[in-house]
Amino acid sequence: MLGKVERLGYVGVGASDLAAWEDYATNLLGVAVQEKQDDGTLLLRHDKHHYRLAVHPDPVDDLLYIGWQVADDEALAAFRAHLEQENVSFTVGDSDKVEARRVGELIELKDPNGVCLEVFHSPLIDYVAPFQSSRPIKGFLTGEFGLGHMVIGVDDFVESKKFYREVLGMRVSDYIKVARNNKELEIVFLHCNGRHHSIGFGNGAGGLKRLGHIMLEVNNMDDVGSTYDICLKRGIECTTLGRHPNDRMISFYMASPSGWQFEYGYGARCVSDEEAVERFTTISEWGHLRNDGLRYGDARKKG
Ligand SMILES: [Fe+2]
Repeated sequence: MLGKVERLGYVGVGASDLAAWEDYATNLLGVAVQEKQDDGTLLLRHDKHHYRLAVHPDPVDDLLYIGWQVADDEALAAFRAHLEQENVSFTVGDSDKVEARRVGELIELKDPNGVCLEVFHSPLIDYVAPFQSSRPIKGFLTGEFGLGHMVIGVDDFVESKKFYREVLGMRVSDYIKVARNNKELEIVFLHCNGRHHSIGFGNGAGGLKRLGHIMLEVNNMDDVGSTYDICLKRGIECTTLGRHPNDRMISFYMASPSGWQFEYGYGARCVSDEEAVERFTTISEWGHLRNDGLRYGDARKKG
């Protein structure tokens, strides 16, 4: 394929309480504050990349942009040619934007929901000062699998699926179909490398925010457990541990200071492009129970 993103590289979010984010990132997630900029922006790091999550001061506590990585300048040139062929408009990131994102080059485009996407190559890597978590955890699974994964709310499921497959070159891993509010909720999971999914979204699954959750995968199951303990100790809203039927990850969800969720997990299976697509009928095989007794993904009780 001419144009294809290869990894979820970075994500930018807006936040109204940067101090809460700094505390949450270092003392709960175990990611490091790599930079605290004059405007309050936090660049958060969880591997050799200079940063993976950028938290910008913004009254709307939600997703601002998604950075998708391609291999190099030739791959980005091929991606641009692919966009032109598909009649998808894009702009070339100027030197200020390139410097701000710490990448070699980038282009910007919008998905069918108006979400800002940046396709880039050559992220800044820090080897001189290796990543060190403020917590005694054994690090995050990233590398060829990218940052982690994310689930967003979309306005048009069919258009979005078409866009992420045909414009970004991603492949469908599988689907989960469940009943919700007497309607059928269908969620699609898409991959661009061996990670089971780098993005997922549902038909009408969107909540109040564009960003549903960001998943960080740790290298050790004990680190999931110790992070769960901190959530309970701090009274942070979270689900119980649970396992998804499709990526087989054991994880739990916890509220970020911006209201959307982080999924923190271990042990997901990998996928390949040769695998046939499957369908599942539950979001969680077991667990992921919220404090209202229902599972993550279930509709909230009214009143
Ligand atoms: Fe997830």
